[in-house]
Amino acid sequence: MFSLDQRLSLCASFVREGVSVADIGTDHGYLPIWLLLNKKIKCAVASDVRSGPLCRARVNTERYGLNGKLKLVLSDGLDKISADEADDTVMAGMGGELMIKIIDRTSWLRDPDKNLILQPMTRAESLREYLCGSGFRIKEEKACISFGKTYSVMLVSYDGIIRQCPMKFKYIGTLDSDSSDEAKRYIYVVNEKLKKKLMGYEKGTEEYNAAEKLISELTEIIDREE
Ligand SMILES: C[S@@+](CC[C@H](N)C(=O)[O-])C[C@H]1O[C@@H](n2cnc3c(N)ncnc32)[C@H](O)[C@@H]1O
Repeated sequence: MFSLDQRLSLCASFVREGVSVADIGTDHGYLPIWLLLNKKIKCAVASDVRSGPLCRARVNTERYGLNGKLKLVLSDGLDKISADEADDTVMAGMGGELMIKIIDRTSWLRDPDKNLILQPMTRAESLREYLCGSGFRIKEEKACISFGKTYSVMLVSYDGIIRQCPMKFKYIGTLDSDSSDEAKRYIYVVNEKLKKKLMGYEKGTEEYNAAEKLISELTEIIDREE
């Protein structure tokens, strides 16, 4: 048996007990393998768009005796995966823009019974904005620190309600109500990136004022005593 790092462990914690899972962009396959070995889920399908990573997943599947239990599929996103194969779909370690493309073209994800577990490496703000504007709700979001880097993982499902996405939500999701050290660290990292961005904006412009306001809101959250 092996352990998952903090990032994949947080993704795994959002997966519901006894469900079927699709892990998109699986690479090594560790997440579905761990979930199956721990008997947390009923079955899993793991996909990758490249054959090299899928080969790694196959080697690991055999190593842990899960042949026939973990289905491996060469697929761009969820294109070769059907609705009945995935109650919960995990996308971890991929860019936010890529996740948007994959979600947008997979109509069967627009089902309130399906959960999405999303851990974007980049453009988390674009992903949150897309979700709000497309009828998906971020039910929960948690942050973690893995090998010195900060990540956010979102638990999402569809309810068809189109929501506004204020700047603060776009950048930190539901993490402002989370007093954990990990959430604070995530907000701190986001705020430092915004400060750098601000330097590139012309003072007094709309984008400058919006970024300045957000930086002050985030600074307040970071400095808040719990
Ligand atoms: C950095 S790895 C992440 C591996 C694992 N999910 C994790 O979080 O540790 C990203 C993987 O996504 C795969 N990938 C990239 N674009 C994809 C797509 N459109 N559909 C499926 N997999 C994709 C890559 O081939 C790569 O193996």
